[in-house]
Amino acid sequence: MMPANTSEILSSPASSGMRERLIVALDVPNAREAVGLVRSIGDAAGAYKIGLQLFVAEGPAIVRELVASGRRVFLDLKLHDIPNTVSHAVKSAVDSGASMLTVHASGGAAMLKAATEAAAGRLKILAVTVLTSMDEDTLHEVGVPTSILDQALKMAALAKSSGCGGVITSPREAAALRKLLGDGMAIVTPGVRPAGSEVNDQKRIATPAEAITAGASHIVVGRPITHASDPTQAALAVIREMEQTQLSK
Ligand code: C5P
Repeated sequence: MMPANTSEILSSPASSGMRERLIVALDVPNAREAVGLVRSIGDAAGAYKIGLQLFVAEGPAIVRELVASGRRVFLDLKLHDIPNTVSHAVKSAVDSGASMLTVHASGGAAMLKAATEAAAGRLKILAVTVLTSMDEDTLHEVGVPTSILDQALKMAALAKSSGCGGVITSPREAAALRKLLGDGMAIVTPGVRPAGSEVNDQKRIATPAEAITAGASHIVVGRPITHASDPTQAALAVIREMEQTQLSK
C-alpha cells in the first residue's frame, strides 16, 4: 500500500535510508529560486547539488545559506587544475560547509591526492570518471583511444588509489564500477529518469530502481523533480521507486 503522506513515508526506516541517497540538482540561476526549491522539497532529499551555474552566480554564500538551514550540500564544481590550486580550492570548499565536492579524475593522481589531503576527511571528494555527455568519438577527439567503459574503469581505479571517497558515473557503467571498487566507495549517478518522465537532453539514462540495483549509492535527479508541478511529491515518488529495489530482494 502507498504511504498516505509525506511524514508517513519519511518516518519509515527504509525510506529514510533511500532519502539520504537522493540528491536534487539545483540547476537554477539564482539564490532566490534555489532557496524556494529547497524550502518546498525540504527533507524529501538527502542533499542538494549546487553546480557551476548557481555557484558562479551566487558564490559560496548560497552554500553557507543552505548549510545553515540544515541541508547537506554537494558542490559540483568538477575541479581540474594543478594540484596546488585544487588543494586551495578544496580547503575553501571545506570552509563553506559543503559535504561533497567533484573533481575530474583525468586530472591525475597528484591532483586527486592533493584534493583528498586538503579535504582531510571533512568533505567527500567525488571523481568524475567520464562525462555522460561524451561518447567514444568525443573521447577519441581528446586523445583517449579507448571505450567509455574502459576509460571509466581506469578513472575509477585511479580515484580509489588516490583516496577519493567516490566516483560520478553514468548508471550504465555503475555495475562494472561497483564490482571494481567494492562496497566502500560512493557511486553517484546522474542521468536518472523516473519511469514515464521526460528524458530531456540526457542520453544514457536509467530509472531510480535501475541505478540503485546497478550499485549506485546515490542518484542525482534534477528536472524531473525541480520542474514538476509538485516537487515534493516528485521527490517522494523517486524515493518510492528506489525502495522497490528493497521490496524485490
Ligand atoms: O535535470 P537532470 O536530472 O538531467 O540533472 C542532472 C544533473 O547532473 C545536472 O546538474 C547535470 O549537470 C549533472 N550531471 C550530469 N552528468 C554528469 C555529471 C553531472 O548530468 N556526468
